[in-house]
Amino acid sequence: MSKILKEINKRRTFGIVSHPDAGKTTLTEKLLLFGGAIQVAGAVKSNKIKRHATSDFMEIERQRGISVATSVMAFKYRGLKINILDTPGHKDFAEDTFRTLTAVDSVIVVIDVAKGVEEQTERLVEVCRMRKTPIIVFVNKLDREGKDGFDLMDEVEEKLQLNVRPLSWPIGMGQRFKGVYNLYERKLVLFRPHGKQEEEEEVIEFTDLSDPELDRYVGESAAEELREEVRIVEEVYPAFDREAYVNAELSPVFFGSAVNNFGVKEMLDCFVEIAPTPLPRPTEERMVRPEEDQFAGFVFKIHANMDPKHRDRIAFLRVCSGIFQRNTNYLHVRQGRKMKFSNPTSFMASKKTVVDEAYPGDVVGLYDSGNFKIGDSVTEGEELHFKGIPSFSPEQFRYVNNADPLKSKQLNKGLDQLMDEGVAQLFTRDSDGRKIIGTVGALQFDVIQYRLENEYGASCSYEPVNLHKACWVSCDDDAALKEFLQRRKRDIAHDTHGQLVFLAESAWALKMAQDNHPKIQFHFTSEF
Ligand code: G4P
Repeated sequence: MSKILKEINKRRTFGIVSHPDAGKTTLTEKLLLFGGAIQVAGAVKSNKIKRHATSDFMEIERQRGISVATSVMAFKYRGLKINILDTPGHKDFAEDTFRTLTAVDSVIVVIDVAKGVEEQTERLVEVCRMRKTPIIVFVNKLDREGKDGFDLMDEVEEKLQLNVRPLSWPIGMGQRFKGVYNLYERKLVLFRPHGKQEEEEEVIEFTDLSDPELDRYVGESAAEELREEVRIVEEVYPAFDREAYVNAELSPVFFGSAVNNFGVKEMLDCFVEIAPTPLPRPTEERMVRPEEDQFAGFVFKIHANMDPKHRDRIAFLRVCSGIFQRNTNYLHVRQGRKMKFSNPTSFMASKKTVVDEAYPGDVVGLYDSGNFKIGDSVTEGEELHFKGIPSFSPEQFRYVNNADPLKSKQLNKGLDQLMDEGVAQLFTRDSDGRKIIGTVGALQFDVIQYRLENEYGASCSYEPVNLHKACWVSCDDDAALKEFLQRRKRDIAHDTHGQLVFLAESAWALKMAQDNHPKIQFHFTSEF
């Protein structure tokens, strides 16, 4: 086997998504502990943007700085190199998460057994479904009372529109939680409440649940219940089929308790067997396959550095094909010029190291002084444009004004760069040239103001603007487009890429525009 194929086969690149507080951070930490990537539990946790800290953007700034280190966490397990791409759980950073999902090959969704499927999970899974990303579900917090297993499966099927197949099944929950039965490996995994986290789980090979021995392990009534429930599972759900999972048609489900490190290893062992190796990626020109000779990759995230004196940033690039090599001339496709990277960085939990080579599925951090935008392609020379890295139509808007006339250059530069990073979107209205910032969450306005001041020495003020949605418009019929632009003059703007945008004041105004101009297409993501 060629070297590149060997390296590709070793890699699994995935993301963990959940509604805040379901246990994503805890699970990430346990996975890293299995891989020996961190020694102390709590190392990832300290980087989390706490919900109660969200009004305090100084705290967010601090977190943002540290979270560079946790943007990508790599660890080795059973001879594989596993890359976890961190996704912010906070809803105001959902767009960051959507973009990170373009760089993964599969996803683990964490659900709180008591709360069931929550709002943020629905939105994130919808994006995964659109992209046909294979999903494993981890139902967490079984040490607490929660919903009945079957009810929860129904909820997942309904709200997340996933076909599920439990690969483990809980034995009781809360006070009566005895463990799980691993249906994938036919093993009984026993839960020791108050057991030390470092201790190994007690795992017993148990192929035949009708064996009376089961009663001895979990007690008679729990044993009966388990037999009955597993019988139903086998009857109701389709048999596990790896191909269906990889094609995003079937989602295996595991149960456990992340904080107790329980049921995590079962999921991880299954994950490394079934999760896809780095997948091909579509570009406007053609499909890019990981095993190709020539290197190609795209930037999915840009992170400003914390040192305000240096305005440099780190662009996170996912390697999609070939071998990325340090100090080699590559083409920055959008700018049409060659670039070399002398300090490409990889991340092993909190450790940063310079890498000489990276393979498909890997993420490298490139030091950047303002050349990159999200979605940019880097190749060995071919003009490729990776698809599926959209901007979402924002939901919150404010006019942005320059609060210091002497610093307008700094303001424009700062705004440009923050938009490149994907913090928010900037629209300039055609009729009066006013600048409007659109974001997915309200928090970004504070972040922008703070960063403009601290990194660019510019100050801005906001003014409310009555807007419901900004959507991109296109039309094949020139005359119809001209008429639309003429009639809706006041509501037309351009984004920073020069694309046409319609600013709708209300849901009703949007509907009217759609009804009155049937030839115009309204798009809610920037990619169409
Ligand atoms: P998130 O990243 O998805 O937002 O969730 P995170 O891991 O931070 O977990 C949220 C809370 O849920 C934490 O409690 C965590 O300890 C707890 N938790 C995680 N897994 C389990 C579990 O299996 N069982 C139970 N009972 N709780 C779990 P916290 O009080 O917010 O933080 P901490 O002070 O305990 O660290």
